[in-house]
Amino acid sequence: MPHHTLADPAAGQAAQTRLMAARYPSLRDKRVIVTGGASGIGEGLVEAFASQGAQVGFVDIQAEAAAGLVLRLGEAHHLPVFRLQDVSDVEGLGVAMQGLVDELGGCDVLVNNAASDDRHVLEDVTPAYWDERISVNLKHKFFASQAVWPDMKANGGGVILNLGSISWHLGLDELALYQISKAGVEGLTRSLARELGPYNIRVNTIIPGNVQTERQMRWYTPEGEAEIVAAQCLKGRLQPVDIAAMALFLASDDARFCTGHEYWVDGGWR
Ligand SMILES: NC(=O)c1ccc[n+]([C@@H]2O[C@H](COP(=O)([O-])OP(=O)(O)OC[C@H]3O[C@@H](n4cnc5c(N)ncnc54)[C@H](O)[C@@H]3O)[C@@H](O)[C@H]2O)c1
Repeated sequence: MPHHTLADPAAGQAAQTRLMAARYPSLRDKRVIVTGGASGIGEGLVEAFASQGAQVGFVDIQAEAAAGLVLRLGEAHHLPVFRLQDVSDVEGLGVAMQGLVDELGGCDVLVNNAASDDRHVLEDVTPAYWDERISVNLKHKFFASQAVWPDMKANGGGVILNLGSISWHLGLDELALYQISKAGVEGLTRSLARELGPYNIRVNTIIPGNVQTERQMRWYTPEGEAEIVAAQCLKGRLQPVDIAAMALFLASDDARFCTGHEYWVDGGWR
C-alpha cells in the first residue's frame, strides 16, 4: 500500500510535468478567453493554454494577481492579456468580452470559469443576495457565451467550456445558491450545445472534484482534506493542472465530437 501525503508538492510537480507533456497542435495560436483567470483553477487554465501557444485573454477582479500571472508567463509564445472586470456586471462584461475579441482578433475558445463559493444558510438569504450569487455563479456564463458566439459562428466553429461542480451532486452543506447555480450550469451546457451545434460550436461542462487551490485551503482543515481523500477512489489531492488537462483536450480538435456533456475530474469522489 503506497503512502500518500495530502499536500505533497513533489506529487503536484510530478502531475504538472506529466500533464503538460501533452501537446495539442490545434490549440496553437487559438484565441482563448478565460473568466476568473487570475488565480486558482483559472490561473492554471491561463497558464496551460498559453503553454500550448494559444493567445489568451482573461478577466478577473484581482488586478494584482493577474499582473503577476502575466509577468510569470513572459516567455509565452503569446503574452496573455488581462482586463479588470467583475463578471456579475453583465453590461460591463459584454464590453470587456468584445474588447478581448477585438484585441485577440476573434474568439475560438471561451472558458466560463469565474465563480464564488461563499457559504450561507437558508435564513440569511435575501432576494438581493440570491441575485448576487446567481449572477456571479451562473448568469455571466450565459452572457459571456452570448457575447462571443457570433464570432465563433463567423469563424466556422468554436468551443465553450463551463466549469460546473461536484458539490450539488454530493449535496454539500451551506452552499445552496452556489449549488443551484452549478446545477444550472449543466442545463446551460446542454441547451447551448443543442442551439450552437449546427454552427460547429461545442459546449461542455467540466466538473471538478475538490481542487487544492488557495481559496479552498481557507475552507478545509487537514482533517477535512483527509475526509475528501478518503472518499475519493484515487488517494491524492487534485491540482488546477488536472482540470486544465481536461480543458485542453476538450478545447482541442481531438475532441471534435465531444459536446453537450459533463466531464468529471474528481479522483472518483463519492
Ligand atoms: N477548487 C475546487 O475545489 C472546485 C471544485 C468544484 C468546482 N470548482 C469550480 O472551478 C472554477 C474555479 O474555481 P477555483 O477553485 O479556482 O475558484 P477561486 O475562488 O480560487 O478562483 C476564482 C477566480 O474567479 C475570480 N472571480 C471571483 N468573482 C469574480 C467576479 N465577480 N468577477 C470576475 N472574476 C471573479 C477570482 O478573483 C478568482 O481569480 C469555479 O467555477 C468553481 O466553481 C472549483
